[in-house]
Amino acid sequence: MDKIGIGIIGTGSIVNMYVKCISEIEGANLIALYTKSTDRVEEAKKLFGVPVFDDIEKLLALPEIQLICVCNESGNHGEAIKRSAKAGKHILSEKPLEVTPEKIDEVIDSCQKNNVILGCVLQNRCSEDYRLVERTIREGKLGKLLMGNAHINWYRNNEYYAKNPWRGTKKFDGGAAFMNQGIHTIDLLLNLMGSVKSVFGNVRTMVHNIEGEDVGTGILNFDNGAIGNITAGTTLYPGYPERLEIYGEKGSILMEGGKIEQWNVQGTSKPKSLQESGNSSGASDPTSIGHANHKTVIQDMVNAIEENRSPMVDGAEAKKAVEVIVAIYLSSQEEKLIHL
Ligand SMILES: NC(=O)c1ccc[n+]([C@@H]2O[C@H](COP(=O)([O-])OP(=O)(O)OC[C@H]3O[C@@H](n4cnc5c(N)ncnc54)[C@H](O)[C@@H]3O)[C@@H](O)[C@H]2O)c1
Repeated sequence: MDKIGIGIIGTGSIVNMYVKCISEIEGANLIALYTKSTDRVEEAKKLFGVPVFDDIEKLLALPEIQLICVCNESGNHGEAIKRSAKAGKHILSEKPLEVTPEKIDEVIDSCQKNNVILGCVLQNRCSEDYRLVERTIREGKLGKLLMGNAHINWYRNNEYYAKNPWRGTKKFDGGAAFMNQGIHTIDLLLNLMGSVKSVFGNVRTMVHNIEGEDVGTGILNFDNGAIGNITAGTTLYPGYPERLEIYGEKGSILMEGGKIEQWNVQGTSKPKSLQESGNSSGASDPTSIGHANHKTVIQDMVNAIEENRSPMVDGAEAKKAVEVIVAIYLSSQEEKLIHL
């Protein structure tokens, strides 16, 4: 079978990881990139070793590209996705798919109308440890779920925000600590605990010179009767590995930095951590995130195109965490419980 040709929109820091992953995937071939910065074209060509365009339509016109990876600023994902869909390309977008549920609905609609497959990168769902926890909960081994918490108490220095000014803006980042960093663990929490009935949020900007929150908390009421709590920050020095805590009637499982830390499930013995590859937490350094989970997501998307099926995380799945995060922001702003 021919390799799936891939084009990338964006030339920011995450793109290095894509180029590495694609080079390791047998059925995939990197064709070209697009950057909005004309003065970056030559530098990016040298860096990535493929053609780089500063005109998006030139990238989308290439017939050898079947899949576009959307890696630009979050609040510009929607436009990139809609243009790619119109050009008949399948799309794998970085998280968040867009920064509001309404904008996510628009991109889902556009992909459906153009009959292309849409996937979103929420790569922490791929870790072996997480998959074991997911299986255990789906099999009912924790019994009735009681409480689920996510803690993403991270740290980013001033340079992180100063270097690329879209970060921390409402328009392009959708917020900050919850929407950019917290979203991964919030996605994992919702995937395990189920849909959310209502939220109460309290978010603030206390240290960084940004529009979005650098510290916050959200209380969740799940539809199944369980409760939950999220804390997130990008100013909580030095930044601790993210935690996911699931409590049920028959026991509890705690994960830290993507690994199972505590396993107390009645009738089972504690498994050894299955996560061997270095997918270390981005608690204090965004560049320390390993590439193994990204590779699994891109491989799944390539397979989804070949098999004409939905990818691991489709548009509807990707919308869930954004919906909850936006409700937490609204709750904080209006100082009231928000029903979803
Ligand atoms: N899944 C993950 O774990 C993960 C990790 C990091 C970023 N992301 C996502 O990837 C997307 C892009 O994030 P990023 O950290 O790569 O952003 P970035 O700030 O490094 O780059 C964003 C855009 O800014 C421009 N840019 C960057 N460096 C430039 C330069 N030197 N000169 C000119 N223009 C430049 C490019 O157009 C680029 O597409 C975001 O949606 C983010 O949420 C996901």
